[in-house]
Amino acid sequence: MTIIQHIDAREIYDSRGRPTVEVELHVHGCAQAGRALVPSGASTGRFEALELRDGDRGRLDGLGVRKALTNVRGEIAAALIGMDALDQHALDRRLCELDGTPSKARLGANAILGVSLAAAHATAQALRIPLVERLEQIWQPHAQASPAPARLLPLPMVNMISGGLHAGGNLDIQDVLVLPVGSASFRQAFEWCVQVYTCLGRTLTAAGYEGRLVGDEGGYGPQLDTGARAIELVVEAIEAAGFRPGGEISVGLDVAATHFYHDGRYRLAMHGAGSRRNLDAGQLIDELCRWVDAYPIVSIEDGLAVDVWDGWRVLTERLGERVQLIGDDLFVTNPARLRRGIEANVANSVLVKPNQIGTLTETLETLALAMAAGYRPVISARSGETEDSTIADLAVATGAGQIKIGSVVRSERLAKYNQLLRLEETLPGTQWIGGRVLRG
Ligand code: PGA
Ligand code: ZN
Repeated sequence: MTIIQHIDAREIYDSRGRPTVEVELHVHGCAQAGRALVPSGASTGRFEALELRDGDRGRLDGLGVRKALTNVRGEIAAALIGMDALDQHALDRRLCELDGTPSKARLGANAILGVSLAAAHATAQALRIPLVERLEQIWQPHAQASPAPARLLPLPMVNMISGGLHAGGNLDIQDVLVLPVGSASFRQAFEWCVQVYTCLGRTLTAAGYEGRLVGDEGGYGPQLDTGARAIELVVEAIEAAGFRPGGEISVGLDVAATHFYHDGRYRLAMHGAGSRRNLDAGQLIDELCRWVDAYPIVSIEDGLAVDVWDGWRVLTERLGERVQLIGDDLFVTNPARLRRGIEANVANSVLVKPNQIGTLTETLETLALAMAAGYRPVISARSGETEDSTIADLAVATGAGQIKIGSVVRSERLAKYNQLLRLEETLPGTQWIGGRVLRG
């Protein structure tokens, strides 16, 4: 009933209007195909699995994915047809073996992830169960290694101001986010974030900034002089919406420091001043510590660049007891890199993006490893997204505890938030984790 019969792929477009991969996987005895759409990052980590692009400058700036489609329809389909899609782990192992490279560079992580996720969708349909329940089944063997409670609605960290590579260099740091830690349900959490977002638009306009234009993930993209100014404006908006900063709603940052790190220095723009501040790792850590002292910050992602492991150790010593330190570009959802971080006492949390590693099984391995080591996982979307909402179901099925999808506007973001609203209402036995996740 779940034997793979046919696999097809097509080129579709993501939220930045760039081509990406959609896979349809058919199993015997089920008329409907399982379908998955693959997202794409802009501030990608150097150690991510490889997204295969055509490189044909004559078409769509070389961003076409026809080679990846050929790989799905050809080599991958030939290897997988006849396998039982119910054995997700065997299927993903086969995909990794078939590719044969550590970064999935030969067949493309976009081709491989599309197939891996489409198989989960196809088996959910064949078994006539919701995707979230099928993902719970696949997660089960991993869950035994960790005490994570299942069916937790995740605490969202929601983008308010966008900078870095997501908004045209208006601001060095990539995201200022809010975490609705005091809310009583996912629905209330999301409603609060919408209120803050609306107030922030007004706050920006009143302060003389552009309060309408948004970055890739829907956060506002005003031209700001410093990261501190961006944080202050978000804090003002939290207050304007009637909440206590650090009470009901706290602040998070994605510094994405790798993307302003050159030749061993962190080069921070000073808009209007025509010059840059050149900080070493110690000075950037000092700056982050000052921000944590001054503002209600509970989470900092990629506070330092990739592969400055010594710097990361110092950052963790200085702030690891007070705030969540997330490795995104640092760990790239890779179990081997996360293991190295855990052994070196670096960071205390990991961003989990399925397309950074390329299969569902490896994504679950990273999640299980994080949970077993007491590192908090945060399931995350990419800046280039689609209407695919699999990560919402994944967050609930694994009890990951936190999710990062972008802002509260743009339908590629809302597809996931709306699915979480649906799950909270319709899935039996869900619980709301709220701010507890940051204390546990
Ligand atoms: P990306 O951004 O998808 O462009 O990598 C998301 C993030 O850095 O968290
Ligand atoms: Zn990031």
